[in-house]
Amino acid sequence: MAERRHFDGIIVVGAGLAGLSAALAATERKVLVLTGAPLTQGCSSAWAQGGMAAALSPGDLPALHAQDTVLAGAGLVDPVMAALLAEEGPEAVRRLAGLGAPFDRTEDGDFAQSLEAAHSRPRVARVKGDQAGRGVMNALVKAVLSAGHVEVRSGAVLRGLLQAVCGAVCGVVVQMDGRLVEITGQAVILATGGIGGLYGVTTTPAELQGDGLALAALAGAQIGDPEFVQFHPTAIDIGRDPVPLATEALRGEGAKLVNNTGEVFMTAYHAEAELAPRDVVARAIHAERAAGRGAFLDARAAVGDHFPEAFPAVFAACLSGGIDPRIQPIPVVPACHYHMGGIVTDAVGATSLPRLFAVGECASTGVHGANRLASNSLVEAAVFGTRAGRDAANLTPTSITALHRILLNPLPSPTLLELRQAMSRDAGVLRDAEGLLRLLGLIGRLEASHGPCGALVAARLVADCALARQESRGSHFRQDYPGQMEPARTLITLKDGVMESRAA
Ligand code: SIN
Repeated sequence: MAERRHFDGIIVVGAGLAGLSAALAATERKVLVLTGAPLTQGCSSAWAQGGMAAALSPGDLPALHAQDTVLAGAGLVDPVMAALLAEEGPEAVRRLAGLGAPFDRTEDGDFAQSLEAAHSRPRVARVKGDQAGRGVMNALVKAVLSAGHVEVRSGAVLRGLLQAVCGAVCGVVVQMDGRLVEITGQAVILATGGIGGLYGVTTTPAELQGDGLALAALAGAQIGDPEFVQFHPTAIDIGRDPVPLATEALRGEGAKLVNNTGEVFMTAYHAEAELAPRDVVARAIHAERAAGRGAFLDARAAVGDHFPEAFPAVFAACLSGGIDPRIQPIPVVPACHYHMGGIVTDAVGATSLPRLFAVGECASTGVHGANRLASNSLVEAAVFGTRAGRDAANLTPTSITALHRILLNPLPSPTLLELRQAMSRDAGVLRDAEGLLRLLGLIGRLEASHGPCGALVAARLVADCALARQESRGSHFRQDYPGQMEPARTLITLKDGVMESRAA
């Protein structure tokens, strides 16, 4: 029998930018933030290099940012949500700057704006080149720790949800201090991040294995577009797990992709060359590597001697792998980077289940469609995290009735490794029915021996929906279905762990 505690307020699970933005914004209530890792660790936000996309310069407009977001999303972006993101993005950046995030500035004191792929103009606010995530998170953590209404409990690993008969989610089950503890509250905001830890090659913290997504799905929340997984083209191939990133901003600065013959190959794949949409660049690099030609990011001319000050995180990662990017091209590999799919929410982060909210990468707001525009994730986390926190704080208090416990089993490490390798091979940059069926066979066998594990539920959502989507769109490329159908989102719910309804 697990110990049960009551928290008279809102429970936020996850302490990345989205979770902490929600916590900080819910000023009307007490907030308990639960996180497995210490603050600033175990979340992708702190690892983000690129920055925050927002129309902050005089020549830019939110409408143009929204337009680029819609275009990048390959037909599946909700234009209303994209407009909201673009309208509220500048204020989100200013708010974080006000908390102390040290964004790069022009000589006039304005936000310096960088160019990244598929943006029609320079629009990315950065911190010391590639330090955006760290700079923003350090400022936010400081603000959260001094906010009187927020309590943070680290070392609390999400294991389950508590659901009332009416479907409302009024609590969580966490593993802390070596035992399971049930904590009830007025509402639960999931900010549990993405699914990078399900892939053999990932740029995100390994512990992000889709547990929040899996629990919400098992509780019956609507899930959207789980098949859309973004692969970053230029992770640094130096044998590290997770693989460090070489930010897209390097290509924005003019770095070129070359193969082992020295050929600059991107022009053969897309007119925009290095600044083509991320999925196109990832497939081109995959193709060069598969053909035995290798792929390298050559920043010698574009950045050269400025590397240590201009991109300190990339520079340090390269040196740790024995590469000096001032004088050597950087070996690169596509890596799982971001999950566009997630728990379907409205504009205030509310899911289809009462009192359950989702924010950040585990959510599907409709902003990213089939392909997220570069540097839209931090800004989405800040904008929609804040909206969700405010909304959850305004919920009418409820009395907790009988609660049903939805619990996940942990997946043993060797089994997780087998799953990760299979996900990268069969649900990666290129997909086909043969590989996806092989993957689903493996998931089925693992489910039979390990029961409901978050990693397996999340992996099945990706694989099932990737198999069902018989077209190529954005980040989802089916070698056996290279064409496109009418654009339609995947919207699914599970009942008793099995897909109950599917509407694409
Ligand atoms: C990057 O810096 O290339 C990553 C930015 C992003 O994923 O939006």
